[in-house]
Amino acid sequence: MKVLEVKDLEVRYGGIRALKGVSLSLEEGQITVLLGANGAGKSSLLKAISGLVKPSAGSIQLWGQETRGLPAYRITGLGVAHAPEGRGMFASLSVRENLQLGGFLAPSTELPTRIEEALTLFPRLKERYNQLAGSLSGGEQQMLALARALVAKPRLLLLDEPSLGLAPIISQEIFRTIRQVHQTGLSVLVVEQNARLALQVADYAYVLKTGEVETHGLANDIKGLEQVGKAYLGVT
Ligand SMILES: Nc1ncnc2c1ncn2[C@@H]1O[C@H](COP(=O)(O)OP(=O)(O)OP(=O)(O)O)[C@@H](O)[C@H]1O
Ligand SMILES: [Mg+2]
Repeated sequence: MKVLEVKDLEVRYGGIRALKGVSLSLEEGQITVLLGANGAGKSSLLKAISGLVKPSAGSIQLWGQETRGLPAYRITGLGVAHAPEGRGMFASLSVRENLQLGGFLAPSTELPTRIEEALTLFPRLKERYNQLAGSLSGGEQQMLALARALVAKPRLLLLDEPSLGLAPIISQEIFRTIRQVHQTGLSVLVVEQNARLALQVADYAYVLKTGEVETHGLANDIKGLEQVGKAYLGVT
């Protein structure tokens, strides 16, 4: 079943066309990675899917339903969780409070179990449960962003650069967790600069270039493409 089908999507910021007719689809249970240079439009695409920016043209279907133009909370209600770039945490709230906000649509009786499940994946956060989010290390904040998204029990998880600024070992830990939660049937669309790491974990990959899809294919095939190797894998 198709989780997501984006067609000819355009996003404009005033005179700038950040997305110039992007089409992409994601099958249930897939991990798809979105690669591309800075400014290619990766974050804009995730924001358009989760309703944080309003596209100027094209269509977005989630589980067969047109969602372009719906407010973000309605899209959250359909089962989409977005862990944005820059982590989007409430710095002056504790780990516990941030996790509770992640489950704002959850039945209150279920919330403690969901938080417990998320903390099982990230024992470090458990130790820092009452600490303010703003005082966590970068890696811990990234874990919190992911944990908070999971508390929403999404069917589709949108992750914007989950390993940004992290040491290699922590990045691997984050991706290991992504793979782990994916095994519960979750579909994942992840933007990632570390193409090598992401392509190890992903099933499928899209490469965006200045607002357009440059190429897409199975992660294994994309790994082998010369232009991708040169641009993103440090192959010379
Ligand atoms: N709120 C905004 N107002 C004006 N222009 C914007 C806005 N957000 C993004 N843009 C522009 O849209 C283009 C795409 O930006 P976007 O953030 O989607 O790129 P990206 O691929 O996520 O880049 P990065 O890898 O640096 O995060 C860029 O040229 C950016 O300057
Ligand atoms: Mg971005």
